[in-house]
Amino acid sequence: MIPQWFIEEKRDGREHAEADLRAWVRGVADGSLPDYQVAAWLMAAYLNGLSEAETATLTDAMMRSGECLAWELPAPTADKHSTGGVGDKISLPLAPVCAALGLAVPMISGRGLGLTGGTLDKLEAIPGFNVRLPIEDFRRIVAEVGCCLIGQTDTLAPADRRLYALRDVTATVPSIPLITASIMSKKLAEGAQHLLFDVKFGSGAFMRTRADAHRLAESLIATGRRLGRKCRALITDMDQPLGRAVGNALEVREALETLSGRGPWDVRALTVEEAAHLALSAGRFDDLPQARRAAAKALEDGSALAVFRAMVAAQGGNLETPLPTAPARVPVPAPRGGFVAHVDAETIGRVALELGAARVKVSDQPDLAAGLEALLQQGDRVAPGQPLCFLCADGEPRAKALVDQALAAFTLTDEPPPERELVAETLVG
Ligand code: URA
Repeated sequence: MIPQWFIEEKRDGREHAEADLRAWVRGVADGSLPDYQVAAWLMAAYLNGLSEAETATLTDAMMRSGECLAWELPAPTADKHSTGGVGDKISLPLAPVCAALGLAVPMISGRGLGLTGGTLDKLEAIPGFNVRLPIEDFRRIVAEVGCCLIGQTDTLAPADRRLYALRDVTATVPSIPLITASIMSKKLAEGAQHLLFDVKFGSGAFMRTRADAHRLAESLIATGRRLGRKCRALITDMDQPLGRAVGNALEVREALETLSGRGPWDVRALTVEEAAHLALSAGRFDDLPQARRAAAKALEDGSALAVFRAMVAAQGGNLETPLPTAPARVPVPAPRGGFVAHVDAETIGRVALELGAARVKVSDQPDLAAGLEALLQQGDRVAPGQPLCFLCADGEPRAKALVDQALAAFTLTDEPPPERELVAETLVG
C-alpha cells in the first residue's frame, strides 16, 4: 500500500479495500506512517465519510492494534459506554446493580475533559480508590466481586490514542464513522459480550441534537452487529443535568444515596433502565419489565450497595474516611417563586468547570470537592429566595463570583412544566 495512493482514494470518495485499511491502521499503531499522512487521511475520511463496512474494518483493526481481553467466567460479561454529560454518574450505581443481577462487569472508563466529568475522577474522590490496577487484578476483582472500574491502559487500542490526538488538532473529531471506531474499538478490546451505549443529546452533550445522537447510535449498533457483538443503545436527554449534584465527591455521595434506595428520580430511573437492558440482553430475564423490577429491587434491598462496597474495598478505597468537602458553600437564591421549568446543562457544566470541578486541559487536576449540589430539577416548586442550588468551591470569592452565571441556568415559570422524558429512544442491535 502506497500511503499517498491510499489517501488519494479517500480524497476522491472511493472505498478502501479491507487489506489496505488494515495495513494503514498497522502503520498508525507502529508509527511507520508520519503524522502528516495520517492527518491528511483523517480529513479525507471526515469529508467523504466511511461506509458501514469500512467503519467496521477500521474498528476491528484499531481494536487489534493492542491487547484484547477475553473473559472465561460463568457469568455473562457486560459493559456500557456513555458519550458523557453533566452530572452523569450512572456508571457508579450501574456496575454494582448489574453485578447484583448476575452479570460480570469489566468497566474501563475515562477522565473528564471540558464540561463533562469522568467516572475515574469521581471514583478518585473516594480516599484510597485505585483506578490504575494491573490487568491481573482487574480480572480477579471482576471474577470475585462482579465488577471493577479502572482507567484506560496503554495496551488497549493504541491506534485510537494516536488517531484521537491527531483528530483533536486537525478539526476531525465530529465524524460519525471516526467516533464510532474510536469508542467501539476500546469497548470491543475490553471483551464484554453485551454492550450498552448511552448516547446523549442536548446542550450538555457531545451530540447536540437528537438526530445526530440517533445517527451515532445506529452506527455503533451496526458496527457491533458486523463484528458479532450484541449491542443496545439508549438515546437520552442531556439538555438538563442528571441528578442534583455535579462535581466529583458530590456525585459519589449521590451515587451512594441511589445505591441506598434513595437518590434523585432520574439517576435511579436511568440506572434501572440501563441495568435492565444489559441484563435482558444477557438473557437473565424474559422481558424488560421483569428486568426493571429486579434492577429496582437491587437498589432497594442493599444488594447493589454491598457489591459497590466490596468493589471499593478491593480497589483500595475507604468509604469510612469522609469524602472531600469544599470549604465554601454559597447558595444561589431564586429571584421569584414558581416552578423550575428547565435547568440548562451546558451552563451548569460551565459553572462546575469554573468552580474547579473539571479540566480545561488534560494535565489539569480537578478539585474533587468542588461543584454544585442540591440542584433543583425540572418540576420542583420554589419559593422566592429559596436556594436553587449551592456552589461548592475552595473559597467564597470563587463561588460568589459564579452566582449570577448559575442563576442564568434556571428558567422559572408560574405553571408546572410537562414531565421530563429521559429516554427518547431505544435501539436494539
Ligand atoms: N469519545 C471517544 O472515545 N472517541 C471519540 O472519538 C469521541 C468520544
